[in-house]
Parts: sequence; structure tokens; C-alpha cells
Amino acid sequence: MEIGCGSGKNAINIAKKLKNSKIYSFDFSQSMIDLANKNKKLNKIKNINFFVYDVLNLNQIKKKYDIVISKRCLINLSNFREQINVINTIANVLKKNGLFLMCENSSVGLKKINDLRKQIKLEDNINTLKLINKINVNSNYYFLSRILNAYIAKKEKKSVNYNSELNKLALLLPEDLVKNFSQGVIWLWKNNK
Ligand SMILES: C[S@@+](CC[C@H](N)C(=O)[O-])C[C@H]1O[C@@H](n2cnc3c(N)ncnc32)[C@H](O)[C@@H]1O
Repeated sequence: MEIGCGSGKNAINIAKKLKNSKIYSFDFSQSMIDLANKNKKLNKIKNINFFVYDVLNLNQIKKKYDIVISKRCLINLSNFREQINVINTIANVLKKNGLFLMCENSSVGLKKINDLRKQIKLEDNINTLKLINKINVNSNYYFLSRILNAYIAKKEKKSVNYNSELNKLALLLPEDLVKNFSQGVIWLWKNNK
């Protein structure tokens, strides 16, 4: 099964190589599925079933597959939580020992490029805008509440109290005392042109 198949070119290439396979490929865009079916016909492919479906509803699929493929589909989901939820659901539609092939963009490579460019004094990749401020919102709070408070609750075999004094203290401390634990970041850019 392929999620977010777009024009169907990946499924068509696989179908040509693995003639005995049965491929189910979906996309939530009707126009993409129309295009994929057109390409399927042009390539005289029989073993693919293209259909319209939203990957966010994957938990409603009861069938199990040998392989699930995502090529630049997960990157379109609106946030990391949604991506993780879909990845967890993929585990449920895989047969035992089934494989999930995930070809997606990674922010790690982009960060390394930007860090190295900065070190050797190359311009920022977003070169018309200059970053003038970056705020990690409530970084202290996330560190104290999600790590310390949660850890103490676990050790004391209690459920996590989100109104704990530790959490309240976190909101009183200077912003960014504990750095880079926030889930929300505010970037302020200035147009220098
Ligand atoms: C960047 S394209 C990649 C298409 C194809 N996988 C490829 O590699 O050429 C992303 C595709 O994911 C589809 N898509 C985005 N969100 C989706 C969702 N929630 N459910 C199903 N498809 C989705 C888009 O319609 C689009 O066709």
C-alpha cells in the first residue's frame, strides 16, 4: 500500500518491476487519483488499485499489508503529532514482519547545512529576510512539567498533577532559563531589502 501517491509514478514503477504484486495506492486529492489512473492506463498497468482516501483515516482500514510506502506524504501533514499518529497507525495495517518504507524530508540535514553555512560565513538560506529574534515559548515550563514533574509523579506512583507548584514556578522563571525545550517557537524576521 502507498499513502499519498500523487500522480502514481512510484506505484507504476513498482508495478512494472513486481508484476505479481497487488498494489493499493491512495491520495486524498481526487484530481491526483484521476491523473494516477490516466498514467496507469498509459502504462498498461493492471496490478494497481488507485483510490481517494485520507491518510488521517488510516485507522479505519482493517486489511493488513506486506509493505507500506510513504514518499513525501507525511511531510504534508499539519504537525508532528499528526505525523506520529499516522506512523503508529501504519504499524496496525502491516502484517507481522511487514515493512514500512518512509522517504521523507528530514530537518536534521537542513539544520546541518545551515549551521555549517553560518560557520563559514555564508548567507542565511532565507536570504531576503534576516532573523532578528527567536523565542522558545515556555521552554522552562515544558522542561519542568514534562520532565521533572512527570518523573517525580512516576517515582511517587502518582498521576501527574498539572497544577503542581513546580509547574507554577516554571511560569515565573525568566523565559529561556532552560533552553530549547519548547514546542512552540516564535521567529521574528526583518526584510532588509
Ligand atoms: C509531495 S506529493 C508526493 C506524491 C508522491 N508520493 C510522489 O512521491 O511523487 C504529496 C502527496 O500527498 C498527498 N496528501 C497530502 N496529505 C494527504 C492526506 N492527508 N491523505 C492522503 N494524501 C495526502 C497530496 O495530495 C500529494 O499528492
